[in-house]
Amino acid sequence: MKKREQWGSRLGLILAVAGNAVGLGNFLRFPVQAAQNGGGSFMIPYFIFFLLLGIPLMWIEWGIGRYGGKYNHGSTPGMFNLLWKNSAAKYLGALGLVISMSIMIYYTYIESWTLAFSFFSLNQTYFGLASHESMRGFLYSFQGKETSDFFTTLWPAYACMIITFCLNFWILYKGVSKGIERLAIIAMPLLFIFGSVLAIRVIFLGTPDSSIPENSVANGFSFIWNLNFDLIGEPKVWLAAAGQIFFTLSLGMGAIHVYASYLKPKDDIVSSGLSTATINEVAEVGLGGSIAIPAAAAFFGVTLTTQIASAGAFDLGFVSMPLIFEKIPLGFLFGTLWFLLLFLAGITSSVAMGQPFIAFLEDEFGYSRKKATLILAGIVLVAIQFVIFFFDKGFLDEMDYWAGTFGLVVFALVETILFMWVFGSKKAWDEMNEGGDFRIPQIFLFIMKYVTPVILLGIMLWWLVQDAIPILLLSNVESDKVPYIWGARALMIIITIIILFMIKRAWMKKAQANS
Ligand code: PHE
Repeated sequence: MKKREQWGSRLGLILAVAGNAVGLGNFLRFPVQAAQNGGGSFMIPYFIFFLLLGIPLMWIEWGIGRYGGKYNHGSTPGMFNLLWKNSAAKYLGALGLVISMSIMIYYTYIESWTLAFSFFSLNQTYFGLASHESMRGFLYSFQGKETSDFFTTLWPAYACMIITFCLNFWILYKGVSKGIERLAIIAMPLLFIFGSVLAIRVIFLGTPDSSIPENSVANGFSFIWNLNFDLIGEPKVWLAAAGQIFFTLSLGMGAIHVYASYLKPKDDIVSSGLSTATINEVAEVGLGGSIAIPAAAAFFGVTLTTQIASAGAFDLGFVSMPLIFEKIPLGFLFGTLWFLLLFLAGITSSVAMGQPFIAFLEDEFGYSRKKATLILAGIVLVAIQFVIFFFDKGFLDEMDYWAGTFGLVVFALVETILFMWVFGSKKAWDEMNEGGDFRIPQIFLFIMKYVTPVILLGIMLWWLVQDAIPILLLSNVESDKVPYIWGARALMIIITIIILFMIKRAWMKKAQANS
């Protein structure tokens, strides 16, 4: 057995996990979710779920991950097999590979748009487009969703995807310490600098048009921060908040486990887990909440901002923000900073989605890192073609629903039950506290054992009834999209079957080697 990789330093590890968590979710998804769900109304369930789901699951995943690493398992099939001595356990662990890989497939494409838009900002390509309609036309024709004079082919998008793809796999190929950790050490400080510069610039926007005093940065901030109970009774707000906590903290997908597996058995996880969750929240509500919404509120007003957010997941970041950059002095520079910020946030996350499968091939099949990276690159390259060419047919959204929204909750429920109930809460608790800088407050034992799984079960059932069944039955889908949606499902099912089959193979080989 060759020696597994390890993190170079504690700071590097914390920055890497923070880079894993801080992503497009913080700067694009969070403002859109907050705006769609009533601003201050959203923040209440958001913080509640941060305490009851986010923090406990963070410790659970670090705990499972470090424990797996001790036995040379970096991916969840091997980890679950340690927690539950049953031959089914490893197959449940397939979720941690399918979800992370599926998200990587579409996330890499979105990440590549941010690279393209950095260039369009620097080059002032979209300068001169004055309305939301025309800027939207620019974005949509870039994505191939609409035909217009701006982009007549998908080549610019495709070329940026190739660059992004190569960068990701080059970093993964360099490995955990020399690739992922180095990237985080450079990218994370830059990200915080860019984010702070932008947030400060936004604060100074004040009231750009003095004839419309209600369009102001201050009103944008009040929209998010003023306690507001208007929508608090709506389940959809609670579900959105839970979904955001999962996505933003990279929970429920195997991405935290794999990073934790490169720790030594007695390295602290208590304070590291808490720090990375905290860094993510600072980036999310501190920076992510101080850029897109307040800026849009200053220029377009709160009402229009919420409408823009409801119209499309990318409109706030890729349509409203560029329009604002056109209006402010040195806007092209701020625009470049904004999209580079997104790119840095994106790439430190997408490598985290690739690492679980690479670790799986290295640990369970004994493949070299080079071979493992190449295999994953091949799969992602084939699958991403569908995401790109069928983007207008809802392919990406369908993958995002099952892998990036529903799947996370299912996986989190499974792991919580396996760790806290099957493995046993006493052992789990000792495992998490082992080597800790301080002990986890006792109350979290109760939360992890009872509160977290009950909430997860509730969310999952609610989703199943409200969302998943109508979505599954394609109730609200235009008929021309139906075959493509089935295509997206087929792709994820094929990925699942291949992974299940590989798990079987890996364990058969090990059984033979041992006999
Ligand atoms: N947490 C990341 C974000 O906020 C997304 C992510 C998902 C990262 C899965 C790693 C794994 O964008």
